[in-house]
Amino acid sequence: MNDQAEKIEPQIGEPQVFGDGAGQPGKLGLVADIPRISIQAFCETEAIATALQGAAEDRRFSKAHTNIQLGGIAAATEWFSQAATPNVLIVESRAMRDGMLAELVQLAQVCDESTKVVVIGHVNDVLLYRTLVTQGVSEYIVAPISELQIVESISGLFSKPDAAPVGRIFAFAGAKGGVGSSTLAHNVGWIISEILSDDVVIADLDLAYGTAGLNFNQDSTQGIAEALGAPDRLDEMLIDRLLTKCSERLSLLTAPGAIDRDFQIENETLEIILDVIRHSVPTVIVDMPNVWEPWARQTLTKADEVVITATPEIASLRNAKNLVELLKAARPNDSEPYLVLNMAAVPKRPEISASDFAKTIGIEPSVIIPYDAITFGTASNNGQMIFEVGPKSKAAEGMMSLAKLVSGRSEPGKSKKFNLGPLLKKLTRKGTK
Ligand SMILES: Nc1ncnc2c1ncn2[C@@H]1O[C@H](COP(=O)(O)OP(=O)(O)OP(=O)(O)O)[C@@H](O)[C@H]1O
Ligand SMILES: [Mg+2]
Repeated sequence: MNDQAEKIEPQIGEPQVFGDGAGQPGKLGLVADIPRISIQAFCETEAIATALQGAAEDRRFSKAHTNIQLGGIAAATEWFSQAATPNVLIVESRAMRDGMLAELVQLAQVCDESTKVVVIGHVNDVLLYRTLVTQGVSEYIVAPISELQIVESISGLFSKPDAAPVGRIFAFAGAKGGVGSSTLAHNVGWIISEILSDDVVIADLDLAYGTAGLNFNQDSTQGIAEALGAPDRLDEMLIDRLLTKCSERLSLLTAPGAIDRDFQIENETLEIILDVIRHSVPTVIVDMPNVWEPWARQTLTKADEVVITATPEIASLRNAKNLVELLKAARPNDSEPYLVLNMAAVPKRPEISASDFAKTIGIEPSVIIPYDAITFGTASNNGQMIFEVGPKSKAAEGMMSLAKLVSGRSEPGKSKKFNLGPLLKKLTRKGTK
């Protein structure tokens, strides 16, 4: 700890909080739990580091992964040039307005767009707050600040009535049976959790034949079927109990994978389940079975992103075209589905070319994955992911680009985009007052 830091004593006064998470002090009993997110803080003073440490130990932080370091915005900038950015980044700065904006410009170059940035400053300046918020900072808090105030502010980022849910739903559907849609869903979920460092839940909706449990070598007895059977008790606690934890950041809501019971998926119940999950986890991957029922249509229509996997053959082409047309019409203001051409380039097999596929369907395949019996067969038999079996394979490469495309997250050390950057650059160039 440096000398300067020691001079600043923690003072629990009336902290000034601006922005999304600003709540009502004194009502902490009502503050919602913080979702399964990653939070990283870079402080300049010991007082703030101590308050953040205290907040991180609060029960409402128990599901979040929190990491607190010293060094302020400069250290954060250095750190994220090599590491994936968290869901929430808290930075402390003792600089005045212009100095702080200049530091944030640097940080913006290495910070993902989806990261919520909270700035703790030492200048009580409404103009600075407005500038920061219009440029994408979620909140500006003026020190000194208490641990309870931190808990309240971070919780408020996700729990205020007008706050967007923390999670996004990515639905994976095959254009026909057996095209590799589940394999892609599981691998993309694994990459997002292990390499892009975001918490993920994979929900396997293929109740009778689902393979999520098998592919991750998990032998769970409960999962999505129990949730679907309890429409009156659906809350975060129930879903938490039904999740199978595969790793620190990846959990499954497994399908029974059995045919001794008849399962019905009720549209409304499924919608509630997915909504509960997306309020507690940033990435929700939905593995759709190859069926066309009202709940399937509804789930695809309502997903944040849809990934359609097709093989280069005529039945896949027809079905993919139908699916894309339906989704484009049903969600005109959303992004187009991503199209993956899987099991391509099988030797001697006549195939429909990627360009003909694109021409007929009206969207270019985002990724083309070759047929690779050895890598896929080994992964499937061992309950491993493609990245574990063949990290340098074309398939692993394709899955990585798909994971980055769909999630909008970047690999550690690769170029990032954060909307604060260009705007702040403009601002500081003009010397904004
Ligand atoms: N590019 C590929 N090369 C070789 N094998 C592959 C490839 N992609 C997937 N597979 C294999 O194809 C089989 C079917 O994959 P998967 O279960 O993911 O398909 P699906 O579209 O989900 O099928 P379903 O319609 O049953 O849900 C698996 O054994 C998988 O390992
Ligand atoms: Mg499947």
